[in-house]
Amino acid sequence: MAAAISIRQETAADFAAVFDVNRLAFGQDNEARLVDALRANETAFVPELSIVAVIGAIVVGHILFTKITIRGSNGNLHGSLALAPMAVRPEHQKQGIGSQLVRKGLAVASGLGFQSVIVVGHEQYYPKFGFEPAEKWNIKAPFEVPSDAFMAIELIADGLRNVSGMVVYPAEFESV
Ligand SMILES: CC(C)(COP(=O)(O)OP(=O)(O)OC[C@H]1O[C@@H](n2cnc3c(N)ncnc32)[C@H](O)[C@@H]1OP(=O)(O)O)[C@@H](O)C(=O)NCCC(=O)NCCS
Repeated sequence: MAAAISIRQETAADFAAVFDVNRLAFGQDNEARLVDALRANETAFVPELSIVAVIGAIVVGHILFTKITIRGSNGNLHGSLALAPMAVRPEHQKQGIGSQLVRKGLAVASGLGFQSVIVVGHEQYYPKFGFEPAEKWNIKAPFEVPSDAFMAIELIADGLRNVSGMVVYPAEFESV
């Protein structure tokens, strides 16, 4: 019988393993270092939203959501979350672990009172969780990205109603 997967908030004991998961999944350590940097950003980091997938004692996946703002053209600021990065160890990919991490993260974020999440990612992967192109709400990325790959989800009904503008990411993202 396959070992059970648990999906839970990371602890300090997981930090090194989370670094390895990101390094192995991305084939470089930029994203792993991004996770470390975001953890140290007290404004952006939400401990409950750094989540690991564990099989036995092995961390096989990780997902992070950090706080962002959406700046409207009138200067209004709306709080939201960015889903990034997400990683599953190569030998454990395509077994549904990434999907479990996304669903758990969205549920925890919703329970914490967040109203929306933004993601830059594959346009065939994220819609199954309810993400739609962010252009639906006239929400724009601060960098060049195909419109289908820049997506948002409302965690409550109308969570993005009257929200539009440019996403402002934590500065740590500029190093990736
Ligand atoms: C992106 C990533 C996190 C996805 O993790 P994952 O655990 O492989 O994701 P899932 O298993 O949920 O889904 C992957 C595919 O496997 C399929 N799948 C899910 N469960 C499956 C199963 N039991 N058997 C076979 N296939 C399955 C899914 O349908 C999905 O295919 P689709 O995208 O065509 O729908 C992982 O591929 C990764 O770490 N990639 C490198 C890093 C990266 O690019 N991260 C994203 C950008 S931040």
